[in-house]
Amino acid sequence: MFTPYKHEPFTDFTIEANKQELLTAIKQVEANLGGHYPLVINGERVETDDTISSYNPANKQELIGTTGKATKAHAEQAIEAASTAFESWRTVAPAERANILVRAAAIVRRRKHEFTALLIKEAGKPWKEADADTAEGIDFMEYYARQMVELAEGKSVHSREGELNRYIYTPTGVTVVISPWNFAFAIMAGTTVAPLVTGNTVLLKPASTTPVVAAKFVEVLEEAGVPKGVINFVPGSGSEVGDYLVEHPKTALITFTGSRDVGVRLYEKAAIVQAGQNHLKRVIVEMGGKDTVVVDNEADIDTAVEAIVISAFGFSGQKCSAGSRAVIHEDLYDEVVAKVVEKTEALTVGNPADATNYYMGPVIDQAAFDKITGYIEIGKSEGKLVAGGKSDDAEGYFIHPTVFADVDPKARIMQEEIFGPVLAISKASTFAEALEIANNTEYGLTGAVITNNRAKIEQAKQDFHVGNLYFNRNCTGAIVGYHPFGGFKMSGTDSKAGGPDYLTLHMQAKTISEMF
Ligand code: SER
Repeated sequence: MFTPYKHEPFTDFTIEANKQELLTAIKQVEANLGGHYPLVINGERVETDDTISSYNPANKQELIGTTGKATKAHAEQAIEAASTAFESWRTVAPAERANILVRAAAIVRRRKHEFTALLIKEAGKPWKEADADTAEGIDFMEYYARQMVELAEGKSVHSREGELNRYIYTPTGVTVVISPWNFAFAIMAGTTVAPLVTGNTVLLKPASTTPVVAAKFVEVLEEAGVPKGVINFVPGSGSEVGDYLVEHPKTALITFTGSRDVGVRLYEKAAIVQAGQNHLKRVIVEMGGKDTVVVDNEADIDTAVEAIVISAFGFSGQKCSAGSRAVIHEDLYDEVVAKVVEKTEALTVGNPADATNYYMGPVIDQAAFDKITGYIEIGKSEGKLVAGGKSDDAEGYFIHPTVFADVDPKARIMQEEIFGPVLAISKASTFAEALEIANNTEYGLTGAVITNNRAKIEQAKQDFHVGNLYFNRNCTGAIVGYHPFGGFKMSGTDSKAGGPDYLTLHMQAKTISEMF
């Protein structure tokens, strides 16, 4: 029925026409800033006493828009609405639910530059990153639609004489989606549509720094045909509304992407069986990373330099997949570090809404700015500052790409997730030692190995303990359906978003055996 899945192409902004289209979209988004987006509960717009204000991180005075801010009472209404809607939504044919996703993808594709422009303004994303974020959101819808159609058939099991056995997947129930700001469109959309297409009803609580793009997406879902009560939009504070939703006895599934500390807390809370709860909650958490690019002595130097710099500084290092550590074999160490410094210093930093198309924009907010600049100070006592170190939060939260060399593998900047444009580099004397350093954090999300030696590639496949392992390339930029994404250890539940097993995590398998 659907055409075979293919990922959404990226836009080439060196083509003048594409650049002009995006600049026009940015102007249009700018002309419409400041809108208000109420909660959506059971298909109704619900006004609230408090609101959440979203500001442009590149220009902190500029209001992107406001959304409603849910209280516990709103959360309760939304849970009830989702719980009631589940009774009908779970019976809608999987193919029809899949069609809605494909329609939503088509709507976003038609408005692609508008969404990209909004990400540029609301999340401070540079063009390339914003365009990839929009494309990834489209990919999640297209990919999961196709997966759902396949899964609707169930999986084959054996039947004996006089018996017909089937193994099918059924919806789970009310799903709480708590989405991050760093892929404010892609992960928000992906974690919302996966439960929807599998027949669950959703309460979407987006990150408070990027709620407007989420509100726009809820409008898209409604336009595409998601019925009332099936998608509910409940921005609010984590401690008030987030915890309430996670602890609610009617919540069946929780899907969270964000920091390690919040993820662990939600995981623990979800494990507690509340009064009136007659099921165990399912939890999908995708948390942090402290990801490493390993450079072997038998490596192509330019490939290594490119991989290190792109992995560290794409979207200012604000990806859980960011390569915030590099471990380089001593034979190539000086040359690779010198070239990384040279390439880092050539990166441009500025307001992504300008016509310049800067490589890096701001970091997301004041708290991030303060945390990252704090780590830069720590880094000065833990290693040698060889590039960057400058920051300026007068207008927006700008931090220049920063590199520390000669860092001890156990140093804080080699161990703790900074979530900013800060790269720490350590030296290793053997490939085995480099892998040991790469594994020495509590995280296990992504990693890259740069080597031309086949035996070392095989060794890394065995010993480098990460969910997404890449060779001779950067460790960021997983593509839906091509590089299923999710990590080991304290990086999360290894749920592999954009992969063949992801949707089944949102469903309950049912065995049906009939005698005849
Ligand atoms: N999927 C993204 C990447 O691979 C991170 O969330 O960079």
